[in-house]
Amino acid sequence: MTSARIHELSSHAGHPVTVRGWVAHTRSSGKIAFVILRDGTGLLQGVLSKKELPAELWERFGQLTQETSIALTGTVRAEPRAPGGYEMHVSDLVVLGPSPDFPIQPKEHGTQYLFEHRHLWLRSRRQVAIARVRHEVVQAIRDFFHERGFTLVDTPILTGAIGEQAGELFSTDYFDLGKAYLAQTGQLYVEAAAAALGKVYCFGPTFRAEKSKTRRHLTEFWMVEPEVAWNDSDDNMRLQEEFVSYIVARALERRAEDLKELERDTAPLERVRPPFPRISYTDAVERLRGLGSDMEWGQDLGGDDETLLAQEYDRPVFVFNYPKGVKAFYMKENPADPRTVLNDDCLAPEGYGEIIGGSQREDDYDRLLARIREQGLDPEAYRWYLDLRRYGTFVHSGFGLGVERTVAWICGIPHIRETIAFP
Ligand code: 4AD
Ligand code: MG
Repeated sequence: MTSARIHELSSHAGHPVTVRGWVAHTRSSGKIAFVILRDGTGLLQGVLSKKELPAELWERFGQLTQETSIALTGTVRAEPRAPGGYEMHVSDLVVLGPSPDFPIQPKEHGTQYLFEHRHLWLRSRRQVAIARVRHEVVQAIRDFFHERGFTLVDTPILTGAIGEQAGELFSTDYFDLGKAYLAQTGQLYVEAAAAALGKVYCFGPTFRAEKSKTRRHLTEFWMVEPEVAWNDSDDNMRLQEEFVSYIVARALERRAEDLKELERDTAPLERVRPPFPRISYTDAVERLRGLGSDMEWGQDLGGDDETLLAQEYDRPVFVFNYPKGVKAFYMKENPADPRTVLNDDCLAPEGYGEIIGGSQREDDYDRLLARIREQGLDPEAYRWYLDLRRYGTFVHSGFGLGVERTVAWICGIPHIRETIAFP
């Protein structure tokens, strides 16, 4: 017997086929019974007729509970009224794995309960839709860079130096050689690779030991980090707006059904096209104060400030040239105003906040060394990084986009934790 996944059923119409999956739902009139099967690609309505089936097979239908795994065999035809658009006239039903008292019922459960049962909760329609959008976003990321001649360079997860902020490091014993840190970023390594290959990116898990329980923070998240030789900060922002627009367009084009399942209003996403508005940090502070914020020049933008500012625009916005004091050591000093650096944060609309942090890198050996010392970092740990400024230093820029924040925004879901299978 041919077996098929539900999304392939259109090419099996009129022919007998077997579909394996899990029971989502059953109902019976006593003479006709329906079983809704899901297999990860869609939903199939199986129809069983009591008078056409052996009594023993009809009995088996009665034992089906939510999430029982089964094989259904029968002839399929298009049925627009059926969930999923196909219906199977069932001639055989085999129970593969019973499922007594599935812990997640189609009723409201608390968040804590759902996360304790995350391994089972993943099967719900909403979680499946989010997983598919995430997959599309990841695929779009890879395609975007591949199409533009970037080379993927995988960077280490166990690292010897601080990549971003000393206060947010996970460390672990590294044999008898001291401490190793879980990577906060692959950036320093892709800077080295950019001098070898020109346009590169890394894409992997990154770690921040922030105990902040916000809807925007995870301790383990995925970040994609391109790095481009000869790009200055303006080129960097142009690459970012093209990149973000590309990802959003792909999700709209290929995951429309999932966004519908998530009840996402896609109108704000349709507006995501270059160019994105740009506002300097200094102007942003003025603007925010005018909107009622009490933030002052020199402070970082908080989550509420980001939301307030982003509300002023109909698409993502760049805030550029932040004060040195609130940004990482590697950002290039702004020659026009040395209190600031040549960086940008890209803020998503609708309250999702910063999805990208990027900058032009300090390419001057002495300035970089001074910044490393100022921040109390050990220059010895950055010797190789400083070498990049000793041997053919070059203007270069790059950025990091957080996958989970981007997926949460595209899906329109309130919390980042549902965008990764096991947060
Ligand atoms: O702004 P961040 O810290 O920048 C860097 O790590 C740079 N090294 C990137 C680069 O220039 N190559 O982080 C970049 C992005 C943020 O904008 C956000 O989307 C995401 O990574 N991010 C987090 N996502 C979830 N949970 C956290 N705790 C995150 N911290 C950062
Ligand atoms: Mg940042």
